[in-house]
Amino acid sequence: MFKCVKLCVCPLNNFTLRKTIPLFRTTMAAESTTDLKDKRVPYKSRNEVLLEKDIVKEPFKLFESWFHEANNTPGIIEANAMFIATSTKNGIPSGRMVLLKSYGKNGFVFFTNYNSRKGNELAENPQASLAFYWEPLKRSVRIEGHVEKTSDKESDDYFQSRPYASKIGAIASDQSRPCESRDQMSKITEELRQKYKEGDYVPRPKHWGGYVVIPKVIEFWQGQSDRVHDRIVFKRPVPGEPLGPHSHEGEDGWYYERLFP
Ligand SMILES: Cc1cc2nc3c(=O)[nH]c(=O)nc-3n(C[C@H](O)[C@H](O)[C@H](O)COP(=O)(O)O)c2cc1C
Repeated sequence: MFKCVKLCVCPLNNFTLRKTIPLFRTTMAAESTTDLKDKRVPYKSRNEVLLEKDIVKEPFKLFESWFHEANNTPGIIEANAMFIATSTKNGIPSGRMVLLKSYGKNGFVFFTNYNSRKGNELAENPQASLAFYWEPLKRSVRIEGHVEKTSDKESDDYFQSRPYASKIGAIASDQSRPCESRDQMSKITEELRQKYKEGDYVPRPKHWGGYVVIPKVIEFWQGQSDRVHDRIVFKRPVPGEPLGPHSHEGEDGWYYERLFP
């Protein structure tokens, strides 16, 4: 076993600690490695490339047509499932899946608990990155932008549209906090079911609601079998922001360019 020496300065009285810690266990590392190097699936063929001449030059319209296709592809059960990355103000990232609940020129909306890990990170750093991957279509969309809470009305309307069990579940969950056991969760849920009977008005908790990601960048990726994939990225530059030499003017203040894959 290899060892390294870690020097730590004790914050209390400023002395230096010399600690020996194992770097890695060679046998365990070898035994626990799963080799996926040969796992490779074909993507699109050479006659299915994504060309600038074939796409609408406005990313919301392009997203709409890709999403529509994904949503109507039988092998895709939840086309609206998306990965969202947030980060602390110190730049420590975290990611998880959420469900897109609406989209349009105002942005991309999802709902969650404002006191969750993502909620706390968005409170201190209101920026996020989204990613969709629609595997049967070999297509992915990435979105980056500023995040705001949806209005109380939008959150209320969506909360009230949810099934009874989902409303109870949202109130019962102290999302991202440690929980004693599944029994504890069941007990909390049962108490809420006694408090609010099915069919009763269930108020939205103030710590639960929507966020809208207002995009500054939207990238469309399509996978090619030869790995020379297509990437077209749309950006909406702020006044004075320099544009790249291969950038083209699109519609509605958007510019687009092709990226190497
Ligand atoms: C397909 C899928 C969809 C999900 N949708 C949501 C959602 O819309 N809102 C939500 O708060 N959590 C959703 N989750 C759970 C989150 O991935 C995550 O566990 C939870 O939001 C807590 O994340 P956080 O601790 O990073 O805040 C979903 C999980 C999966 C796998």
